[in-house]
Amino acid sequence: MTAADQKGLSRQSGYVVAENVRKTFTKAAGDDLIQVNALDNLNFEIDEGEFITIVGPSGCGKTTLLRIIAGLAQTTSGRILINGKAITKPSPERAIVFQDFLLLPWRTCVDNVAFGLELQGVSKAERLAKAEAALGLVGLEGWGRYYPDELSGGMQQRVGIARALAVDPDILLMDEPFGSLDAISRSQMQHELLRIFMKAGDQKTVIFITHSIDEALLLADRVFVMAEGGRMIDDIRLNFERPRSQAELLLNNEYIEIKRHLLDVLQGGYMTTPFAE
Ligand SMILES: Nc1ncnc2c1ncn2[C@@H]1O[C@H](COP(=O)(O)OP(=O)(O)OP(=O)(O)O)[C@@H](O)[C@H]1O
Ligand SMILES: [Mg+2]
Repeated sequence: MTAADQKGLSRQSGYVVAENVRKTFTKAAGDDLIQVNALDNLNFEIDEGEFITIVGPSGCGKTTLLRIIAGLAQTTSGRILINGKAITKPSPERAIVFQDFLLLPWRTCVDNVAFGLELQGVSKAERLAKAEAALGLVGLEGWGRYYPDELSGGMQQRVGIARALAVDPDILLMDEPFGSLDAISRSQMQHELLRIFMKAGDQKTVIFITHSIDEALLLADRVFVMAEGGRMIDDIRLNFERPRSQAELLLNNEYIEIKRHLLDVLQGGYMTTPFAE
């Protein structure tokens, strides 16, 4: 059962569609310039309200794909459509949580979180209220008046997540958003994100990159598996009911089989230890 099915809602299929997406970069190799495939002919469809996780070794094109969906980078050929319209530029409907937070150091945390709302022309009172609420969602109430460098790395990452949540986007793009959190905060944030996702019915679609197989399997309706050279090599549908817990999943034979398969497929990348977070 998918998330939308569990919520008893109908959903739009083919909401995000990738058609023959390629992205190449030119790189120096000694005296020569070579073309590197960051994305190699990707084709996929994502339904509205689906939670997708993307796994794959370092350098396989995950961030590049997310940046294209965000409208921050262009394809070399092929295209990605949302609701039938090709993506050409960023939009408030799509919010991204960056791998390296990208907070503005000269702004307080609450002003960082309010930044997207400011760009949308939301009034000051409203954006402060929304930003404070988003900080609350990530467990940072009371920290709004501090500057990013007064917070730990994990807290800064949560500010980055709050900034994306504050604009209440239809599509939430998350690039290893919990990577620098300690295990307890990470688990709390996973559950908070799922709570927000479930509450939104089929209104929120999440595309989430992670290096943790456990995290990918805990969160997703489908796991996209990418490989070197920007190829998509697998698309695994997960039918486990939500809410899921690691403890319960570990008793599920289908889960164990899928996890084993992912460990096999991803070996050779740097995700070689079975229980790496
Ligand atoms: N702006 C750029 N200029 C040149 N090459 C780039 C650029 N951005 C990405 N690349 C190259 O494209 C490939 C894919 O990079 P990308 O950042 O998408 O990988 P990734 O899967 O997100 O890796 P990681 O797991 O380490 O974050 C890599 O070979 C990278 O060096
Ligand atoms: Mg990346």
